[in-house]
Amino acid sequence: MKRVTFDFVSRRSVIAEQIGDGVLVLFASPEQRRSNDTYYSYRPDSDLIYLSGFEEPECVLVLRPKHETPFVLFVRPKDREREIWDGFRYGPEGAREHFGADAAFTISELGKELPELLAGADAVHFAIGEDSAADGAILGAMKALRANRRRADRCPRAIVDPRPMLHGLRRVKAADEIQVMATAAEISARGHVAAMRCARPGMFEYELKAAIEGEFLRSGASAPAYDSIVASGPNACVLHYTSSARQLLSGDLVLIDAGAEYGRYAGDITRTWPVAAEFTGAQRAIYEAVLEVQIEAVDRVRVGTNNHDLDQWVRREMCSRMIDVGLLSGSLEQNLEEECYRRYFMHGTGHYLGIDVHDVGPYYVEDGVGLPYEPGVVVTIEPGMYIAADDETAPEAFRGIGVRIEDDVVVTAADPRVLTDGVPKSVAEIEAMRRDAT
Ligand code: GLY
Ligand code: MN
Ligand code: MN
Repeated sequence: MKRVTFDFVSRRSVIAEQIGDGVLVLFASPEQRRSNDTYYSYRPDSDLIYLSGFEEPECVLVLRPKHETPFVLFVRPKDREREIWDGFRYGPEGAREHFGADAAFTISELGKELPELLAGADAVHFAIGEDSAADGAILGAMKALRANRRRADRCPRAIVDPRPMLHGLRRVKAADEIQVMATAAEISARGHVAAMRCARPGMFEYELKAAIEGEFLRSGASAPAYDSIVASGPNACVLHYTSSARQLLSGDLVLIDAGAEYGRYAGDITRTWPVAAEFTGAQRAIYEAVLEVQIEAVDRVRVGTNNHDLDQWVRREMCSRMIDVGLLSGSLEQNLEEECYRRYFMHGTGHYLGIDVHDVGPYYVEDGVGLPYEPGVVVTIEPGMYIAADDETAPEAFRGIGVRIEDDVVVTAADPRVLTDGVPKSVAEIEAMRRDAT
């Protein structure tokens, strides 16, 4: 896996500007035990890698702008024995040389060094309550400072949550981030195409999952960005279906929601297509209803709107299509008022995308008032219609059909930029690809 680097110096200087006389402390996520003495594949903390690119566990980042050594890292020590078992470690020297730390220590020195690093700051910018070991380290350092009777005034007065500041910055992507996200999206698209080309009646969902995720890794992804959803037939109506155990039937639709992580940024694509060479009439009616709304929603990802308003527009359109196809009856206004559309479209239109698949950053200025989109914001657009197999209020032909279509879209100063157009989406393109495959 290639290490992708970014302009961490600029990111840190924006944060430094905002914390002024304060000090920011970020802790690496703890490793998670899977069973006995084996661990889940380690995924570093998103805020920490955003500011440093340092990916090893047991790391603490300290940023204190008004000092001679403003950027300090605590990291695992070099350890010949452990490196034989677990792989390379940068150690403090590597942290200085390769990650630009002004000072670096081993993690075992944290307790000794931290009080002095916090001393004199007006506030500690630290996400208290996330991890008890991290809380203990910060509170212990503050207590040590307060215990110094002559200089107890050097203990910071406040603990401030740094996430609104960091996440506000992460919400708007710089050009180098967009470029890496375009690669993550392209790799994600390749995985979807691989599945679309290899599906046959009688295959199992897990075989498609293997095809997609194999293509992700072959193309340079570090991992799937989230648990891939490969849902055939009625399983498409289970929004977070992950067991992938069902056998594909020739009359099924397959809904795949999967994305690759590349350079630590996520792709997030959903496509829905028939196992046969063509959609049935009922499948096509639902698919085209969702597709028309999705295409227009993507075109509305522009400066001048926001996630809330776009979501409201999509709900209205989806509700109107549900009336058109016969899923709902009565007037549009009444169905909207009573939120009847939620029976078949029960999630939001989309979310920010970035280092986290459901990326961080505020959506609202205040209750009901969306934060305006601006160039560099990246969102998903993913409307869906799901008619449960046992929904006796729905026309019988539609029961067991689930459709979602999801693309990754960048807000620009001009037209929206779709990163995920490498996977077929129109009925004609999908049927052409499925016809070639079957
Ligand atoms: N794959 C998660 C989502 O689409 O939000
Ligand atoms: Mn999504
Ligand atoms: Mn998705």
